[in-house]
Amino acid sequence: MNDFNYYAPTKVVFGKGAEQKVGNLIKEQNCKKVLIHYGSGSARRSGLLDRIEAIFDKEGITYVELGGVVPNPRLSLVYEGIALCKKENVDFILAVGGGSVIDSAKAIGYGVANEGDVWDFFDFKRKPTACLPIGVVLTIAAAGSEMSGSCVITKEDGGMKRGCTTDYSRLKFAVLDPELTMTLPPYQTACGCTDILMHTMERYFNHGENMELTDGISEALMRTVIRNAKILVKEPENYDARAEVMWAGSLSHNGLTGCGTDGGDWATHKLEHELGGMFDVAHGAGLAAIWGSWARYVCGERIERFVQFAEHVMGVEPQETEQKTAEAGIAAMEDFYREIHMPTSLTELGIAPTEEQIKELAEKCNAAVRGNLGKVKHLDVEDMIAIYTAAK
Ligand code: NZQ
Ligand code: ZN
Repeated sequence: MNDFNYYAPTKVVFGKGAEQKVGNLIKEQNCKKVLIHYGSGSARRSGLLDRIEAIFDKEGITYVELGGVVPNPRLSLVYEGIALCKKENVDFILAVGGGSVIDSAKAIGYGVANEGDVWDFFDFKRKPTACLPIGVVLTIAAAGSEMSGSCVITKEDGGMKRGCTTDYSRLKFAVLDPELTMTLPPYQTACGCTDILMHTMERYFNHGENMELTDGISEALMRTVIRNAKILVKEPENYDARAEVMWAGSLSHNGLTGCGTDGGDWATHKLEHELGGMFDVAHGAGLAAIWGSWARYVCGERIERFVQFAEHVMGVEPQETEQKTAEAGIAAMEDFYREIHMPTSLTELGIAPTEEQIKELAEKCNAAVRGNLGKVKHLDVEDMIAIYTAAK
């Protein structure tokens, strides 16, 4: 087992009606003015924002608001948020929404707490040294940003989707009420389940060695998400299934399933981020579209890991050769994606990049990772082109 640091400082308040506690959670922060940051309308339509505003008014919490965050959150709104926070002397941000709203809040938090252009932190020019404190009322189980140190922002100019990871942006609290996720369109529920799975799969496919406990936790998490994602296709209002998926979402990206590993592979994520930057696809769907092609391309490098995945997670019986078992595991995962109506190719994702665009995607990806992609197999630009092409 590799040495590791595990840091998960976010207070989790989980359960039915948990958002009623948001007033007390904010008061514990001793802040003067809150920015309520939200997305493109779902939190208003569901009545959640009205309920939160009523709590704030009742508790005498002063706030300003900024909505309009879109999936693949944009840098331009981040700049707007930074200016608003500075003008209004905001000292706490409450995100109401999903990964996109949380990430936009994190970027605003970096921009307010540090001098200079916030994009520098996503462009490897500088590292942030602080972030405004942030909390969330989560409305979609997916990105895991509520407990992760990551923040992913898209700069419109050039379609650049880039990440910045530090512990400064770890949230103070995360309010997780599974009932809030029941208004999600089925496609977003499935995208979320895919992303949750991938956060553990990225860590699981590694070159580490003896990690019995971490493997056990990871395999249980993956089986749980697969089982409950299938239930949610038929029963979107099944509370227990929503709850299992929501808790898995936070645990899958708070570092727990990476303890003792070499950090994991992350190639599928990085390849997908470029698709999000260029074509504005939903993150989870982009991951599903590309994972099978990545897995077939690299599985020979770490066959025993793919065999373990096939047998322990997908329930595949051992075949004549390890290669066949590994391939059956990959095929079973793709069958699962189809069952929850996720794409397994770029065509099914609804995009058709040209050869030129594939080259551009690979080159941008290589720049974003500074020439260092993949643990199962190190991928250079030619490898990335081959994977994007195979995913067509
Ligand atoms: O904007 P609204 O109107 O709220 O609609 C959203 C959005 O269209 C909708 N939605 C959310 N909750 C809803 C709802 N609709 C109805 N009922 C509800 N309860 O769902 C859509 C997707 O929301 P979004 O926040 O974009 O989803 P997600 O949580 O999947 O976040 C995706 C973003 O997170 C990044 C992704 O790249 C992408 O930009 N990621 C962030 C990570 C992190 N910070 O740790 C890690 C991930 O790997 C990922 O890269
Ligand atoms: Zn993800």
